[in-house]
Amino acid sequence: MLKAVILIGGPQKGTRFRPLSLDTPKPLFPIAGLPLIQHHIAACAKLQECKEILIIGSYTTTQLAQFVNDMQKEYHVIIRYLQEFTPLGTGGGLYHFRDQIRAGNPSAFFLLNGDVCAAFPLKELWTFHEERPSALVTIMGTEATRQQSIYYGCMVREASTKAVTHYVEKPNTYVSTLINCGVYVCSLQVFQTMAEAFQRKQDGFYSANGQNSPHPGYMSWEQDVLAPLAGTNKLYAMQVTNWWSQVKTAGSAIYANRHYLELHRPKQPATPPCHILPDVFLHPTATVDSTAVIGPNVSIGAGVTIKAGVRIKESIVLNNATIHEHALVMYSVVGQDASVGEWSRVEGTPSDPDPNKPFAKMDNQPLFNSDGRLNPSITILGAGVVVPAETILLNSIVLPHKHLTRSFKHEIIL
Ligand code: GTP
Repeated sequence: MLKAVILIGGPQKGTRFRPLSLDTPKPLFPIAGLPLIQHHIAACAKLQECKEILIIGSYTTTQLAQFVNDMQKEYHVIIRYLQEFTPLGTGGGLYHFRDQIRAGNPSAFFLLNGDVCAAFPLKELWTFHEERPSALVTIMGTEATRQQSIYYGCMVREASTKAVTHYVEKPNTYVSTLINCGVYVCSLQVFQTMAEAFQRKQDGFYSANGQNSPHPGYMSWEQDVLAPLAGTNKLYAMQVTNWWSQVKTAGSAIYANRHYLELHRPKQPATPPCHILPDVFLHPTATVDSTAVIGPNVSIGAGVTIKAGVRIKESIVLNNATIHEHALVMYSVVGQDASVGEWSRVEGTPSDPDPNKPFAKMDNQPLFNSDGRLNPSITILGAGVVVPAETILLNSIVLPHKHLTRSFKHEIIL
């Protein structure tokens, strides 16, 4: 029997994802028609041996309860949400709930960061792990560019055994282009290593009289567990070459949307309601005029209304939004219940990885550049925003429930 743990953080995380995370917790933000972590759940549920999925985070239980219920019904696997009493870091929550993970004596458990997007080759990862009896943890790794690698966990591997000999989380200078994808398989004995790390942290906490530490139970999986395991023949890395990405900034949602759509290729209705350029996810309850043109890489949520002559590409339109006649939406996220007036243009700038650099990942650029100017990115309309007719909105972020009265370029509209 296997289990899976998904780390989702809490309301204080995901700040770079605002304003998209203002109404919906980031782990539930829909990408390619499914809440972000439903992609993880679907991948885990595909493995017959995986009997339980534990979601660990510090969101309130009420924020997650409905979702967990829906997922249990859909995937017929036990799914539970375990709420941390305070953010305990990527390792602290895992250690705190160790008895829940060990219950039933699974052979191993998968550990998935809730904000990564990939094809999740869990079966291969599990086989790779099983083939190495000394392995406590196997990391899914991928190649990054030399410049970008320092923003991730970097690993040096022994070529023949694939054992990780050196691990540095976000190093100051170049270490390796093999980076940690935030997807792991772990043997239960890893809790022994975690107990030692926990003890070290406690010693540090009490000898410093509680100074410089967020909480005595706080532990970083990467720094306190993985780094010391490197070079002990207990840490291995399986390298994958498929698409992998993280959802950090709002712009990365559009990139992930495109790749998940490509991966899952949503089935189109036998008679599409309008002209569709694949890949497109169209919720069955959306009302679409036959003269609209949608795609490529568009997700349309439940209850959305798309009127005549509308053009949408490379965008996510959330539930119950309305796009009025002849409006254009491109590289944008249109929030729930938002409305785009007729003949308006809502357009952003893609923040894709550099296509000329092999292995390049998305640059999760900060909102503002060094001159204090907004970095060009996708346009975001918060929930309930109203864009009047014949308005242009370019590379802008509009906070929820704002009724615009004119056009804007490169602005945050509060
Ligand atoms: P950043 O660039 O700082 O975001 O670093 P990162 O990519 O290494 O991410 P981070 O280590 O912050 O988080 C990795 C995953 O763990 C994400 O899915 C987070 O939501 C999750 N996570 C982070 N902190 C916590 C925590 O305190 N508790 C739980 N349960 N999950 C967490």
